[in-house]
Amino acid sequence: MKAIRGATTVNSDTAEEIKECVSELLLKIKEKNRLKDEDIVCILFSNTADIHSYYPAKAAREAGFVSCALFSSLEPEINGALQKCIRVMIITESNCCAEHVYLKGAANLRKDLSNKLNIAIDGPAGSGKSTVSKLLAKRFNILYLDTGAMYRACALACHLNGINVADGVSVKKFLDNINITVKYENGAQVTFLNGDDVSDEIRIPEISMLASTVSAHECVRIKMVGLQREIANKNSCVLDGRDIGTNVLPDAEFKFFLTALPEVRACRRTKENESKGINQKFEEVLKEIIRRDEQDRTRKIAPLLKANDAVEVDTSYMDIDDVVNYITKNIQGRI
Ligand code: DC
Repeated sequence: MKAIRGATTVNSDTAEEIKECVSELLLKIKEKNRLKDEDIVCILFSNTADIHSYYPAKAAREAGFVSCALFSSLEPEINGALQKCIRVMIITESNCCAEHVYLKGAANLRKDLSNKLNIAIDGPAGSGKSTVSKLLAKRFNILYLDTGAMYRACALACHLNGINVADGVSVKKFLDNINITVKYENGAQVTFLNGDDVSDEIRIPEISMLASTVSAHECVRIKMVGLQREIANKNSCVLDGRDIGTNVLPDAEFKFFLTALPEVRACRRTKENESKGINQKFEEVLKEIIRRDEQDRTRKIAPLLKANDAVEVDTSYMDIDDVVNYITKNIQGRI
């Protein structure tokens, strides 16, 4: 006897979609495990409470699974659980090595079985990238890599050592003295500069502009992009930055470009600063954001740019949950 597991998600709670997704899941499991109908003893389904339109077991019978026992049950409602999900366990007489199958949004439940998931989130300062990326990473249970933190750490290193960030020659000479690493504590990124945790220092407004300036140098970008690719190649992750979709991971399957009106972005940044005890006037923040965008957009190497295949999301009048839900739906619809 063997138990084979699987799961899938539906985009909408309709009988048609449930039938289609259940049939696809069962046929894939059958094919991957080379199961014959007579091998299958029973098929047990469970589904999340947001599915009402059709019994998965009934969909299985209609898909031709008629000679085994079928059963559907309801899952407990767990906070943060993947939505509109149908899970299955097939008990078989076969002794083959079980090949479990996780499709669509459920692919992320078993990342060890599925391909790596990299999500690129680019956009200007204050467009909501970091908040959205953190929540997306939580939802998909993958890492969040804040690439801006690396440029900020680099700028901080120069600043602390009296290196002029605008002077490419000095920055290049100094670069070997900069060792940036990131670690994850309780799911949150902690950024280290030469072994010291600098996660808070890099957030001060003065460092924002210095990071933008230092990030324009080719030597800096080569070093940072190398680190970013190394992390993204080993892990499923959401990366946010300016050039993720165009340069760091041009082959990423999921790319989004967040925008928002400068005044909205400045308002968000002012509030964020306030919550950290940093007092900077709205007008000053707005001016700095516009200047920084201009510098990031017009630099020669890997400028802030929407990749051709990125989905643009104007977040000006959306709240964070709306943006996260929109992106999640878009990804789940394509997995
Ligand atoms: O996202 P942030 O505000 O923390 O980024 C700080 C600066 O770093 C930003 O103004 C430009 C630079 N940056 C970059 O050039 N490429 C990235 N992928 C991320 C940030």
